[in-house]
Amino acid sequence: MQNLFLILGVFCLLIIQDISGSQQPNILLVVADDYGFHDIGYHGSEILTPTLDKLAGEGVKLENYYVQPICSPTRSQLLSGRYQIHTGLQHAIIWPCQPNALPLEDPTLADKLRQTGYATHAVGKWHLGFYKEEYLPINRGFDSYFGYLTGSEDYFKHDTCNFLTKEKYCGIDMTQGRSPDITETGKYSTHLFTERAIDIVKNHNKSKPLFLYMPYQAVHEPLEVPAKYMNPYEFIQDENRRTYAGMVSCLDEGVKNLTNAFQEAGLWDNTILIFTTDNGGLIYSGGNNWPLRGWKATLWEGGVHGIGFVHSQLLKQKGVVNKDLIHVSDWFPTIINLAGGSLNDTKPDGFDQWKTISEGEVGKRTELLHNIDPIYYHRGSRVSPNKFDTRIRTALRLGDWKLMTGDPGNGSWIAPPEIHNESRLDPSPKDKNVWLFNIPKDPNENHDLSEEYPDIVDKMLDRLSYYSQTAVPVRFPEADPNCNPALRGGVWGPWG
Ligand SMILES: *[C@@H]1O[C@H](CO)[C@@H](O)[C@H](O)[C@H]1NC(C)=O
Ligand SMILES: *[C@@H]1O[C@H](CO)[C@@H](O)[C@H](O)[C@H]1NC(C)=O
Ligand SMILES: *[C@@H]1O[C@H](CO)[C@@H](O)[C@H](O)[C@H]1NC(C)=O
Ligand SMILES: *[C@@H]1O[C@H](CO)[C@@H](O)[C@H](O)[C@H]1NC(C)=O
Ligand SMILES: *[C@@H]1O[C@H](CO)[C@@H](O)[C@H](O)[C@H]1NC(C)=O
Repeated sequence: MQNLFLILGVFCLLIIQDISGSQQPNILLVVADDYGFHDIGYHGSEILTPTLDKLAGEGVKLENYYVQPICSPTRSQLLSGRYQIHTGLQHAIIWPCQPNALPLEDPTLADKLRQTGYATHAVGKWHLGFYKEEYLPINRGFDSYFGYLTGSEDYFKHDTCNFLTKEKYCGIDMTQGRSPDITETGKYSTHLFTERAIDIVKNHNKSKPLFLYMPYQAVHEPLEVPAKYMNPYEFIQDENRRTYAGMVSCLDEGVKNLTNAFQEAGLWDNTILIFTTDNGGLIYSGGNNWPLRGWKATLWEGGVHGIGFVHSQLLKQKGVVNKDLIHVSDWFPTIINLAGGSLNDTKPDGFDQWKTISEGEVGKRTELLHNIDPIYYHRGSRVSPNKFDTRIRTALRLGDWKLMTGDPGNGSWIAPPEIHNESRLDPSPKDKNVWLFNIPKDPNENHDLSEEYPDIVDKMLDRLSYYSQTAVPVRFPEADPNCNPALRGGVWGPWG
């Protein structure tokens, strides 16, 4: 009898283990490109985003959520969990002709999820380096890949150019696995990427959990969209803004189609959807971050305070707003832990934030190094020879405080068209190089407190010195003319 119970017990244990194993959640990670803080319905936008509003409204809106100010840096932190000071990618994006990439010693989210038994697929924009085969997404943990290796492609022709000193190098940028794919020219990328992703969902074998990484091209420039998506926006006078609004609407429809496909495939109830922008909107290309200060490529809140939300049946709290400090580098440990994976050979700078997102517990992050870029243009003069060099471009968050040094970029407040009269220009003198803000009290960075709180400035400068000591040298190599697509049949791809 006892033996029978023992056997039954072992049996139950096996069954429980089996269930928990098969219940690893599917992960749908959607990235929008250059999507401005103001440009989602629930932030009071004139742009209609019914799908995103519904998903965010049923899930958890992250309203103290941060990304990096530009493309490759955000993607590098998303997929590696590592700050730029630890990957050598402190400065700028990875340009198409630069022999540069996210280092191979940093395993990607896809590497870790594949180790944990996931099917891993990526559709969309990579932008983490491709000069050698080993840096292609297919060699960075993804079972399949379809999309752009670099950035700024034409939405229909899928080609892009890079200027090297005098010459202009152009080519088609579309890769399927290891090979260029020139068959899809003519199809708008939001439609094309959504269709390819839906194919993956339909063909997915449910014996494995699914990780689908979906970094859309939308809504980055060039400003292009099939005309019908602009119809609801005839009231917007500014043509850039009107086109951009149409691009956002098309993206919203793409997310609707994709989530419908998850439902039809019976995957949705066990899926965690994470939606994030890669950086703030670019005001010169239709985007808007009102009421935040600054925009894409600046360290002002308009560059880094991003749109983000989570939708899932697996959330314990639904329909709530989360105000804990969460950063794009946090997804790496958060997702790997959710998947039952191991962080043993990784050194993430991010934190597992699932308890705060799902249950409303206090978040784990009290500090956030936005960046230290030692080679960016040095602004003003050094405040003290014994302290961190304030000419260097940095931004650091410590609790409620945000310190910026060097040149953070243009800090004007640009309002959307209907209240454009509220816009204000950056009042900073051109050699000023230290700012301190209390972000929860002053989220739009109106009141610089650096002179009122010198002790806090000093303490944060010391933290910057500490972080600098842990940094690896910046890697920003010269462009290599061997990148020229003309040398490979007119397509962008590995040349190294
Ligand atoms: C799904 O994968 C399992 C395990 O590899 C395999 O046995 C099964 O045949 C697959 N199902 C389909 C429909 O391919
Ligand atoms: C969404 O699906 C509808 C119906 O199939 C299709 O007409 C539309 O083009 C799709 N939109 C996107 C962005 O993929
Ligand atoms: C880390 O975890 C992976 C997956 O669980 C395992 O295969 C590997 O042996 C572990 N490595 C170390 C150093 O423990
Ligand atoms: C900042 O940007 C605004 C808007 O484009 C522009 O009018 C202003 O001249 C810029 N300021 C500086 C210092 O570049
Ligand atoms: C801007 O215009 C709006 C609408 O016309 C008006 O309500 C508001 O007071 C104006 N703001 C400023 C700063 O002039």
